[in-house]
Order: sequence, then C-alpha cells, then structure tokens
Amino acid sequence: MSIPMIGEGRDRVDGRAKVTGEARYAAEHNLDGLVHAVVVSASIPSGTIRAIETSAAKKVPGVITILSHLNAPKLNPPPSPGGQQQQQRQPSGNYSEPRATPFADATIHYLGQQIAVVVADTLEHATHAAELVRVTYDGRPARVDMNALRNDAKDKGAQAPPFKKGDPDAAFATAPVRIDQTYRTPYEHHHPMEAHSIVVKWDGDRVMLHDSTQNLFAVRQTLANAFNIPRDNVHVTSPFVGGAFGSKGSTWPHVLIGALAAREVKRPVKLWLPRKQLFFTNGHRPETEQRVALGATRDGRLVALIHEGISQGNAISEYNERFTRPTRMLYDAPNMRGANRVVELNVSSPTYMRAPGESPGMFALESALDELAAELKMDPLQLRLINHADVDPIDGKPFSSKSLKECYQRAAERFGWAKRKLEPRSMRAGRLLIGQGMATATYPAHRSPASARARMNADGTVIVSSGTHEMGMGTATVMAQLAAETLNVPAERVRFEYGDTNLPQAPLSAGSMTAASVGSAVYEVARALQQKIVELNDGREITSADQFASVLHAHYLPHVEVRVDAKPNPEEDKYASHAFGCQFAEVSVDPDLGVVRLRRMVSAFAAGRVLNQKTARSQYLGGIVQGIGMALLEQTRFDRRFGSFTNINFGEYLVPVNADVRNLDVIFVEEDDRHVNPIGAKGIGEIGIVGVAAAIANAVYHATGKRIRDLPITLDKLL
Ligand code: MOS
Repeated sequence: MSIPMIGEGRDRVDGRAKVTGEARYAAEHNLDGLVHAVVVSASIPSGTIRAIETSAAKKVPGVITILSHLNAPKLNPPPSPGGQQQQQRQPSGNYSEPRATPFADATIHYLGQQIAVVVADTLEHATHAAELVRVTYDGRPARVDMNALRNDAKDKGAQAPPFKKGDPDAAFATAPVRIDQTYRTPYEHHHPMEAHSIVVKWDGDRVMLHDSTQNLFAVRQTLANAFNIPRDNVHVTSPFVGGAFGSKGSTWPHVLIGALAAREVKRPVKLWLPRKQLFFTNGHRPETEQRVALGATRDGRLVALIHEGISQGNAISEYNERFTRPTRMLYDAPNMRGANRVVELNVSSPTYMRAPGESPGMFALESALDELAAELKMDPLQLRLINHADVDPIDGKPFSSKSLKECYQRAAERFGWAKRKLEPRSMRAGRLLIGQGMATATYPAHRSPASARARMNADGTVIVSSGTHEMGMGTATVMAQLAAETLNVPAERVRFEYGDTNLPQAPLSAGSMTAASVGSAVYEVARALQQKIVELNDGREITSADQFASVLHAHYLPHVEVRVDAKPNPEEDKYASHAFGCQFAEVSVDPDLGVVRLRRMVSAFAAGRVLNQKTARSQYLGGIVQGIGMALLEQTRFDRRFGSFTNINFGEYLVPVNADVRNLDVIFVEEDDRHVNPIGAKGIGEIGIVGVAAAIANAVYHATGKRIRDLPITLDKLL
C-alpha cells in the first residue's frame, strides 16, 4: 500500500462496478410492485388541447391509469419563476421550465411536450396504451423561425448580461482593417448513453426517488415545492449517472409527472424516456446566429471587438445560450461590446450543454480571429499573442493565474506549427489538401459552497461523504485521493460516498466546478478530521497512518467524525479565474469529394493543479471528441413546417466514432494557483470542447481557401 500523491494517474474506483454491471443506474432499481409509466407527447408545436380520448387505451390489459391536465391533481407552480438555474443553493429548485408546470392546463408550448402519462403493469402495456391515446388540438400558428422573428429577440437570464467598453462602433467604423461576419451553429443534443429515468416511490407524504440527475439537492427542492411537502420528506439518490453533459442539471417535466403518477397509483413507478423523446423534452444546445465584427490596426492590434447575435429559447424556460461570455475576457481590445439575445419560439426548452456559451461563442470568435489573420497575412498564433489580455479586459482584475502563452508555445512546438505555410491551399499530401488551424480555449473557474463529512473508524479506514455526483468524470476517485493525501493514509483505506440527499449537501455537478467545490470541502474536512485526532493525541502529530487507529483505540472510540460546510473565500473574488488552453488541428480535405478528415490534434490546457493524470486526460479527450462532433458531424435538423426535430435517432444524428478520432495529444501545463481555492484546481470538464470547432474550421480554410461559417462542416459546403 502506498500513500497516493495528488496528480497520480489512479484507476477509477468505480470502474470495476461499471464494467461488471454491478453499478445500478436509476432505471435499474426494480422495486417490489413496480409499475411502468409512458408519456404521451404533443404532436403540434402551438395551441391548446381540445380533447384527450382514452377509451381504447384503457382497454389495454394492465393499464392502471391515464393522467393528464383533465384529471391529474394540480402541482404547485414554482415559487419564483426565473433566474434560479445556477443559484448556489437553488432555494426554488431547478425547474427546467419554470413558467409551465406539467399538466397545469391545456396549453401546448412546443411539439413533444409531455401532455399525458399512461401507467400500466408492464412497459409493453404502457407503451401500447400510450400509442392509443388520441389527442385533438386547436392549433395556433407556431413561432418556429428564429431568423424571421429576430426583431423579437430579448435579453434574458442573469447569466449573460450585455457588456460594453469604450465606443466599439465608432472604433470599428474607422479601423484600418475590418472583419464583419456572421456565424451559425445548429441545434445539437447531448445524447448521454443513459436515458433520463426515474424510479419513484411514495410512503404517505414522503417520497423516494432514484433519478439520473446531476443535481440531487435541487431535485429535492423542486419536488418539495411541487408537492407542497417538507424538503426532508424527499429523498433522492443518484449514485451512477451514465453521462449528462448538462442535460441532467434541471428537473425536467418527466420527473414531476413520474412522481405524480406514483402518488396517484400508490405503487412505485418507473419512467424511462425512450431515446426519441429525449430529443424533445430534456434539453438541447439551441441554434445560434452570431455576428463578430473585428477592427484592427495593420500591425494586428484589435481596436474594436463586437460580438452579438441570437439564439433559440422559449417562453417557459429561462435559458440563454451565453455565447458572448468568453468574448468579454479573452482579448485586450480598448473598445468592446457583446450581447446575446433570445428569440422565444415554440420549440422545446434548450439547456446547458458542455461549455454552454463558450462552445458556439468561441467557434464564432476564433473563426473571426483567423479571418483577421488571413486579411493581415499574419500568423494566426501571432495575432493572438499581440492581443493577449494580461488582466481582465473589462473590469481590470488580475487573473488568478494564466498560462495561456505557455500553452500556445508548448502546443505549437509539439504540433510543428513553425513549419506551417501561411498561404491557404499551399500544403498537400498526394492529392489531398492539408490544412492546419488553431484556436484558443477558455472556461471560467467557478466554485460553489459544498459540505462534506469524514469519519475515521477504529480499524483505520476512512469514509468521506458528500452528496455530489459521479457522471464519469472520476469524482469518486479524485475525492478519495484528495482525502487520502491530506490525511496521509493509503488510498485503499478511504471510501468516498456520494449520490444521495442523505449526505452533506453538494452543488450541482456542472460548470466544471465539482473538483473545485467538493474537492475543497473534502480537503477541509480531511484536515479537520486530522486535527481532531491530533487533539485526542494531546496535540502530538500523527506520523503514520496506523497511528490514527491507535489513538482511537486508546480512547475507546469506535470512530471519530467531523463535518465542514466549505465556502468560497471572498478573497477569490479579487481575481478573474479562468482555465486557458489552445487547440491545434490538422485536417485533410479531398478536393473532389469535399470529405474532411481530422488527421491529428495537439491541445494544451492550463487549469491549475492536475488531481489525477488519468481521469484529467479522459476529461479533456471527451471534450475534444465532442468538439470534433460539433465541427464535422452534429446537428439536429428542424423542420419548420411541423415545428419538429426530424433526425431523432442515432442513425441520422451523427456523432464521432473511433474512425473519426485519430491522433489526439493533450499537454498539461500545470499551474500553482494559490487564489482559486485551497486545492488549486480549476475546472477541466468543459474546456476540452472549447475551440475545437474553430481550430478545425480554420484548418479547413487553410486547406481549401473556403471559410465555412455554419457548423457542421459537411462535404456539401466544400464542393
Ligand atoms: Mo455542464 S453543461 O456544466 O454539465
């Protein structure tokens, strides 16, 4: 047994449970007397329900009930609609659609809306009966065309306020060199392997829920609100989550509907959404249209930076795809403005999707920088170095740490950027055109309050617990490592418990902040535990792991337990805290067929301290692979005639497969950041995807001389 060091590439502690099937996901909790719920979806995008005909459905054997707005008891609406999505303790819960409660009335807000639920003894009976439910509507003209309705766009949500510095329009108008272009990104879906699912059971006015959520405590709050019961009456578990990427951060309608159904039939209910329904009722990345206008001097200094545009939203959710968020802090321009407005449509609710805002925003911004470099006949990396921001460009705060220049330098060197020829269409491999492009990556380093408990047992084992989530990031592994290192005991003796509202409260696992938030709490609780045992030892230091047990034995204690509520230090606010990185891509393009292949990528990231080399690399690689999908493959097609997504299966929604992912090289630029939090780690969950689409688009331009400004870069756009 060895004392683990932070940073060591330890295997995932949950790996074996996952590959052997021992890990039980929400839908695998087959409780006694379980019945099955299947949801009926609206088939029009706007209007009201005229009638719901259930006589044929009710004749299906095993059907127990069919609920809709016509007969379901009413749920409490959210206490204060709006703005609560990422509040740290989410006092009003985390309703995905705070302005519409399921089964409240006959209104149809979007196609796919969950309007009724069938409960039956088996999944097959429930599915068959749901197909026999006949709904008639009074349709209204639907708002489905974002471009046609652009004049209705509004500022929305607290997270993406417009910003302005200097006089950007005047500076742009008089700039010697100007780029003014429009970029588009399509609807995309998260597609976690595990479909959204719940198993829910009532006992009087207490409810127990196995939920595939990345936000346990907010689900508890949302259910308490909706059913008007004390928060302590709601118990939620989420021990394993099969991918989320932001889509499981909100309480979507099926959770409320499933809980309602279980209460009505007085049996445990399983509601497991089919893949097709996930396209409509569990969030997506909305389409965007972004204008980037850059004004510069002939030697490449930015004098004006304007980033504005629209994205899809709807009237019942608060979501705003904050694509200008990176623009306000990335480059040092004296005149800047940004605004991302929402066009509310009769389209289902968008939500956070890996690096929400940064992913589409940095495609636009970093493509525009490349266009400016081409106009100036300047190396694109050089242009970025010239405009490097040494302090936060809007509020002047120092960065907590920023190793972007080292990322550029090390990635460029590993990639062989110096050998790149400046001119487009100047590099070839046989008949293939070769292109090389780069882009910057960034993501904020956030931290939220988190609580943790640590218990030392008399046998020397340690249990550390916090109600956070393991969605594949390596949280359980890294937290055990952190506790083991802090206590100076072998990692094998530490078990980390998570995924349950009975444990100390942790924030939602999103925004790349789990390691920083929960990790800081685990670090603090391990220190507190150590201190308590040192006190028992009359203040003498503990010098070996086995000594802990001796101290407990000496005091006849079966265990010693401590708990901390860790909070961000207000000092952290004095700094602008962000992770930085860069992406260098090489593509080949077939000049006759337009086929783009990513040949290799070199990425470098500086995100504070690396807690586990192995899980960190996986996080980065996962993000990069999703970025490859965004660049070349992913789009959910939308048919305006019906107000519906159309390619709603994995046959037609393309994601990268192994053959699309070749040589990915990730460089860690480690930082010693004393300002972000006590463990010195910035988030790494999302920065991996940021900049990938722009780096590939810029490489495609370099290969072909064609600038593709709307994703994904498919072959038809290159012919
Ligand atoms: Mo995320 S989009 O922070 O799960």
